[in-house]
Amino acid sequence: MAQTNPSVRIARAPQGLPTREDFALVDEPIPVPAEGEVLFRAVYMSLDPSMRRKLPGPQGAPGPLGGTQRVGDLMIAGVPPPSLGYMSGLVGQVVESRHPDFTQGDLVQGGCWWQHYQVVQGHSLEKLPAETKLSEALGLLGQHGFVAWVGMRNIGNAKPGETVLVSAAGGAIGMIAGQLAKADGARVIGIASGDKVAYVVDELGFDACIDRTNEDVGEALDRLCPDGIDVYFDNVGGQVMLAAYDRMADFGRIVICGMASEYNAVELPFGASLRPVLRKRLRIEGFVVYDHYADQFAEFQAEMKALIAEGRMKYRIEVIDGFENAPEALARLLDGRNKGKMIVQLAPDPTG
Ligand SMILES: NC(=O)c1ccc[n+]([C@@H]2O[C@H](COP(=O)([O-])OP(=O)(O)OC[C@H]3O[C@@H](n4cnc5c(N)ncnc54)[C@H](OP(=O)(O)O)[C@@H]3O)[C@@H](O)[C@H]2O)c1
Repeated sequence: MAQTNPSVRIARAPQGLPTREDFALVDEPIPVPAEGEVLFRAVYMSLDPSMRRKLPGPQGAPGPLGGTQRVGDLMIAGVPPPSLGYMSGLVGQVVESRHPDFTQGDLVQGGCWWQHYQVVQGHSLEKLPAETKLSEALGLLGQHGFVAWVGMRNIGNAKPGETVLVSAAGGAIGMIAGQLAKADGARVIGIASGDKVAYVVDELGFDACIDRTNEDVGEALDRLCPDGIDVYFDNVGGQVMLAAYDRMADFGRIVICGMASEYNAVELPFGASLRPVLRKRLRIEGFVVYDHYADQFAEFQAEMKALIAEGRMKYRIEVIDGFENAPEALARLLDGRNKGKMIVQLAPDPTG
């Protein structure tokens, strides 16, 4: 076993996009599991835009937009215990177990810190099937796939022939949300930037994709959605949300999934009139994926596996090498310069 435990602590409050200097790469002792606990080694860590939202504000205290972390804290990945391992942003292998359900070598999802080695209560660790490919466990068949599925199935509920709009369409969740709507027979328009625009159409099979950095989103929506938008799967909020909001069809559904455009902001954005909600009888409904795990995770996995087997679900993963490169990758993710789902590799992958 390695004698060191590379970990990342918050060195200072970021000003705008996070930089390498905002984080301190430190070496911490490898923790020892007590009775009922498990020591595991992380192989991959999910990089998520919401990590920025949790960082401290300018004074080093929790941020104005809801940040919960302070300078000096370990960086957080996923949701802290006592949540289920499934909520974790880390997958890896058991090194030592003092819990009856786990043995050395088991593939698991759990832990909540930017650390190579973590001790987790056995009951908050998720055992992954032995055939799991770890690089995929954080994406299609994991939390991101489930988020897309819950939003589309429970709220979007796209019908054949309807027009569905997905923002951040080339991102971890948007890729899946749009393909689920395609599988339902909807006409699907994406919004993205960079090379994701072509990827979304050419590889994922969306009907069109608006380049938000090179086109006026509102004008493009007028052209592509002349009869209005039936379902808007919103990953970003902000100006893109406003452009979509104004062009919803009667009885449209807006799936409020995330607000990625706001995570890096220093002040809360504009207010918006809710009048169209009344006038157009819209349904706007937020959701948090954790509420649906117990009831719907098995159904989600069965449907996703069938779509993958039929070749109707594609996915792109960008693997980042080590914590050293994670801050710069997080900035690229927030800025739209990611190429699909970003995961950080922390150890050799035993599942290839
Ligand atoms: N509801 C839930 O339970 C739940 C759970 C997990 C995550 N989420 C949320 O789901 C959303 C998508 O997550 P993800 O992991 O798939 O992230 P992602 O889409 O891979 O990355 C975020 C993307 O947002 C877009 N973006 C950034 N700034 C923007 C701006 N100012 N205006 C418009 N677009 C902007 C960029 O894509 P382009 O440049 O390509 O447009 C960027 O790549 C996030 O908001 C996340 O917080 C929700």
